[in-house]
Amino acid sequence: MDTVELSVLIVDEDLRSRNYLSALLFKKGYNVRTASQGKEGYISALRDHPDAVIFDPAMGDIPAVEFTHKLRTDRRTATALCIALARKEDPAQMADLLAAGCNEYLVKNQENLEKILKLIADLSPQVQETQPAAGVRKRKKRKGGLLCVFLSAKGGTGTSSLCANLATSIYLHKSDASVVVLDSVLPIGSIAGIVGYDGQMNLSTLCALPSETTDETFFRENLPALPAWRFRLVAGTPDPESAGSLQAKRIEQIVSKLQATYDYIFIDIGRSLSNMILPLIQKADVVAIIVSPDKGAIRLTRIVRQYLQEKGLPPNRIYAILNRVVGFEGVTKPEIEGLLSLTMQTTIPHLGGNFSLANDQHIPFAIKFPRDTAAMILKEAALKIITLANHARAETQQRG
Ligand SMILES: Nc1ncnc2c1ncn2[C@@H]1O[C@H](COP(=O)(O)OP(=O)(O)O)[C@@H](O)[C@H]1O
Ligand SMILES: [Mg+2]
Repeated sequence: MDTVELSVLIVDEDLRSRNYLSALLFKKGYNVRTASQGKEGYISALRDHPDAVIFDPAMGDIPAVEFTHKLRTDRRTATALCIALARKEDPAQMADLLAAGCNEYLVKNQENLEKILKLIADLSPQVQETQPAAGVRKRKKRKGGLLCVFLSAKGGTGTSSLCANLATSIYLHKSDASVVVLDSVLPIGSIAGIVGYDGQMNLSTLCALPSETTDETFFRENLPALPAWRFRLVAGTPDPESAGSLQAKRIEQIVSKLQATYDYIFIDIGRSLSNMILPLIQKADVVAIIVSPDKGAIRLTRIVRQYLQEKGLPPNRIYAILNRVVGFEGVTKPEIEGLLSLTMQTTIPHLGGNFSLANDQHIPFAIKFPRDTAAMILKEAALKIITLANHARAETQQRG
């Protein structure tokens, strides 16, 4: 199977700088296109939907914020890695562009060019893994990617939003990790809607493929990449019809293949706890439970907590997140912890309409609102989750 070539669009009025960067990227084997003006660049982006767009914000014909906003709000370009590369630093411009949805704002210098090469290389885990000369160096044997499942006892708790956003935040700590998110919420998944994926591949179409064809190479090369989110996606079933015909027993096999291929596997289980999903929970390194601060959610979470305990889930694999989806505080954190006998390791504040706004525009929250304290909280929570996953795995390996 051929590896799909990554494509990069450079938009820069300065000919020398455009040529320099395009030669550099071309040498790395990327498919490079260039444009000298904002509008021309935008048209090219809509036509070719590149994996990454690098642009100098000094555009004569349209404001760079508008350029970014246009890219982010069109489905064809919403998920591209978007890098502003400015001649000199301008903090106000940087804030505006990051808020409009740019992933990075960098100043032109050698160090940052290296950084860009790395950011683009990170978009293709397959390139990194196939490069070392075969036979010369033995490939390190994978122990299996770390599995983190996200669940809640009630819908509308922020489970899908947090699953996607925390998966994205892994790169802040491990920039070369490969990450995949699988949406197993039935009958209609919602991660695709959050990240702006509208392709045909989903859990149902994958489960319908014969197991011989869905090997590690298949999953490494064919899952849709979402550059702005920095993970690959197994979208959920798009409608009740496809959910109804889902060959659910294939899910476990697919997850095993994903573990053989990716470093981190985040699964949105939502509130659909069932026998079909239980094996995934039992083999998860971390089970993230999302709780909202209202009496109904707490009562239901107690039941889920009890169920997990009965099924033998060790309590130290649970990572509890208190997400204040609702504005008013019905119950305090100590009360919730008491009622659930569970420490809330992270608390996400109520974010008004901002979380929904970022979701609607298919932009990770921390990129849309980099200065919001919640961006820092997400970053910290991602680190705590991957650390816990590593510990849990080490413990399992020691035991057996
Ligand atoms: N901390 C928060 N503050 C405000 N709104 C939030 C917060 N967390 C999530 N939301 C919003 O709540 C809604 C439900 O989120 P979603 O992730 O779909 O929940 P679930 O997957 O549990 O059903 C979304 O519109 C989301 O943007
Ligand atoms: Mg959901």
